[in-house]
Amino acid sequence: MAVSSAPGKVYLFGEHAVVYGEPAVPCAIERRATVEVSARSDGRLRVDAGDLTLDGFTVEYGGDGAPDVDVPQSLVQAATGYVDGAVAQARDAADAPDVGFDVAIESAIPLGAGLGSSAAVAVAGIDAATRELGVELSTEELAERAYRVEREVQSGEASRADTFCSAMGGAVRVEGDDCRQLDAPNLPFVIGYDGGAGDTGELVASVRALREEYDFAADTVEAVGDLVRRGERALDEGDIAELGRLMDVNHGLLSALGVSSRSLDAMVWAAREAGARGAKLTGAGGGGCIVALDESEASRTALGYTPGCVESFRAELDFEGVRREDG
Ligand code: PMV
Repeated sequence: MAVSSAPGKVYLFGEHAVVYGEPAVPCAIERRATVEVSARSDGRLRVDAGDLTLDGFTVEYGGDGAPDVDVPQSLVQAATGYVDGAVAQARDAADAPDVGFDVAIESAIPLGAGLGSSAAVAVAGIDAATRELGVELSTEELAERAYRVEREVQSGEASRADTFCSAMGGAVRVEGDDCRQLDAPNLPFVIGYDGGAGDTGELVASVRALREEYDFAADTVEAVGDLVRRGERALDEGDIAELGRLMDVNHGLLSALGVSSRSLDAMVWAAREAGARGAKLTGAGGGGCIVALDESEASRTALGYTPGCVESFRAELDFEGVRREDG
């Protein structure tokens, strides 16, 4: 048996624009997905998913036909697509095409809410499954293979941001294929979650259409890129006040691109009015999570009273990426 965990992430800056080659800065947060894997000789796959936003379920299947379970098929696909992909990558890396696995997933990262739950499952799953087969991948190769899983499940629409960040931990910078780690101070993140999720594929497509139709939308995407470069400087200087100001502007630009929502805006404003240094939506948008910077408890308290916010929590920058949990 092998057990690995990997962190979720927030976008400090740059989601959506990263799809068009602009830089983005995601940061790993102290909320993890843990995947336990045992090889089995009959080639079958059994997946046990206990997720924060799903009632736990177990599926068992053997390559032909859909899994037979009593929950909506879309949820099963969301949960198993990444696991299937991770298993395929591990089989490929270990040159063991016929091996089966028992897989158990525990995740404290809400699904599809902009916190990178699928990337964390892919990273931890590939790491545990390859180690179970006696193969040690470098963190770079792990990130690359996890990226391939996301790209495949999301029909080609994925950047390297989530998977690289989850594998490496800390703050990272992603610009096209160029991924690197950044020096960053400890960042006092507060997350607000509206209990919902946006459809990443649809939201990416809507920004693409806007950008093709209007020059101002293309300019907005470029403006996000400029903002990210300023943000990198502020991060390097440990200038939390400037980071907060830039987060506020980044949220405004994302709103202009049409990817915010009433509940995301309400949570962003609640955090700002409570004295947060800055606040923005994180990830694809449409619903899900916001991230605020606040050293005090004021934003969390305010989010607790904000209609539309179902959960808020503190999640500091996690300097550790993928981690072995089996000693
Ligand atoms: O909501 P998430 O965590 O899947 O983030 C999506 C980020 C986008 O920039 C909108 C798309 C991408 O793959 O980078």
